[in-house]
Amino acid sequence: MKVLLVNGSQNAKGTTNESLGIVAKELNAQGIETEIYQPCPKIYQFDPACLDEAVKKVNEADAFVFGSPVHYAATSGSFSCFMDALFGRKDAELAFKPAAAIAVERRAGGSATLDEMQKYFLFKQMPIVSSNYWNIVHARTADKVAADEEAVQTLRILGKNMGWMLNCLKAGKEAGVKIPEQEEKINSVYR
Ligand SMILES: Cc1cc2nc3c(=O)[nH]c(=O)nc-3n(C[C@H](O)[C@H](O)[C@H](O)COP(=O)(O)O)c2cc1C
Repeated sequence: MKVLLVNGSQNAKGTTNESLGIVAKELNAQGIETEIYQPCPKIYQFDPACLDEAVKKVNEADAFVFGSPVHYAATSGSFSCFMDALFGRKDAELAFKPAAAIAVERRAGGSATLDEMQKYFLFKQMPIVSSNYWNIVHARTADKVAADEEAVQTLRILGKNMGWMLNCLKAGKEAGVKIPEQEEKINSVYR
C-alpha cells in the first residue's frame, strides 16, 4: 500500500514538507510506503505533461495527504490551480481512496483552508481521515514545526488513523466487499 503526500507549497523544504514528513513517518512505521510529491511548477500553468505525471502518481497511490501553506487565509493560489486541474481530470482515480488535508500557517486562516481542501474530497467520494484535532500547523519556517507540539501530535495520530483505515479497506476488499454501484451523475462537469 502506498500513500502519496502532496506538497502544495512552492517551497520544497518548507513547513508543509516538514509537516507531511511527520505523517509519512507514522505510515512507514506501519509498513506503508510513502512518497512526498511536489508537483512540477508548470502544473500551475496547466502544462499537460506535468498534469499527466500527477495523474499517474495519483493512480498508483491508495490514499493521499494534501498539504498547503495558508496564503491570505486560503490554500495557496498555485495549489488551488493544481487541485482544480487534478480533480477535473476524468482519468484521475481518486474516488474511494482515503484522503486528508493539512494546512500550515504562521498565524490564522487554517480552518478556512482545511474546509476548502476537504471540499475536493467530498466531491469525489473520498473517505476523509481525521485526527483528534484539526490538522493545522503553526510555523513560519520548517525548523519551527517541532515547536508546535500539539500539531505534531495531531499529525502523528493522523498517520496512525490513515494506516488503520487503509488496513480496514484492504481487509474489506479481501473479504469481498465491493464499492457501491455507481449511478450516472446528474449534471456532470466532465465531458
Ligand atoms: C503570500 C503569502 C500569504 C500568506 N498568508 C498567510 C495567512 O493568511 N495566514 C497565515 O497565518 N500565514 C500566512 N502566510 C505564511 C505561511 O502560511 C507560512 O509561513 C507557512 O509556514 C509557509 O509554508 P511553506 O514553508 O511550506 O511554504 C503567508 C505567506 C505567504 C508567502
